[in-house]
Amino acid sequence: MSTAGERAPGNDTTFVAGATADGLAVVPVPGVDYWRRRAIALGDRAVVNLDHPVDGDLDAVADGHRAQLFPLLRAELTGAERTVLDLGCGTGRLTPGLAALLGGRAIGVDPVAELLALAPPHPDVEYRRMDEAVLPVGDGEVDVVFTSLVLGGIPMPALGRTMAEIRRVLAPGGLVFLSESVSDGDDAAHWATRTAADYRALLPWAGLRETGGFDDAGDAIAVLVGRAPADGAPDR
Ligand SMILES: C[S@@+](CC[C@H](N)C(=O)[O-])C[C@H]1O[C@@H](n2cnc3c(N)ncnc32)[C@H](O)[C@@H]1O
Repeated sequence: MSTAGERAPGNDTTFVAGATADGLAVVPVPGVDYWRRRAIALGDRAVVNLDHPVDGDLDAVADGHRAQLFPLLRAELTGAERTVLDLGCGTGRLTPGLAALLGGRAIGVDPVAELLALAPPHPDVEYRRMDEAVLPVGDGEVDVVFTSLVLGGIPMPALGRTMAEIRRVLAPGGLVFLSESVSDGDDAAHWATRTAADYRALLPWAGLRETGGFDDAGDAIAVLVGRAPADGAPDR
């Protein structure tokens, strides 16, 4: 996810993480603290690519993401799923829609309290604050793990632990649905530009396949889906 001004500090006058009194940008440290500072600075705009227009309609951006993602998710559902985890849900802009798609419930988890505070209460949604790389979710509690624009912002080694947590919380045969920016370009300080092959290697048990993609304010987004092994089956 690009954030103009961090790749080339000074380009983006709306948000420079860690800006100092003399106006010079400090290179942001990747990880949860970065997202907390971004949330405090930007509110609900913190969760979208900052190359979307500053005065743009955030609801329209969310509508566009739902229009891209939800048909691809619906196509993977068997109809038996009851619980979806929105990992890194931020302001919960997609979370109630996920519950509706399943006709079940959603658990939205995020490490940044300032973002969760902006999430819309909904009878079918429970929001839980998480510590980095520890999901406050029981073993096998969810049928679907969904992420939208989250994994690129998690640095190693936390990302490796997050991957193991995804495996732990997924029910046997459960669906993993990733929507992440993919590129073989250079990393930003706060965002790792991984490729689809990188994500396949991070979740070897899931057999990820690319089912779609779209452009998000200039970033290529890939949708990657896979499944946990069925009950009793060994990991791939
Ligand atoms: C670009 S925002 C996307 C939010 C939401 N998924 C959406 O599409 O609106 C990235 C989110 O990842 C969250 N995040 C940061 N580190 C995380 C971690 N280690 N585990 C889970 N989420 C994390 C941030 O707090 C932020 O809400």
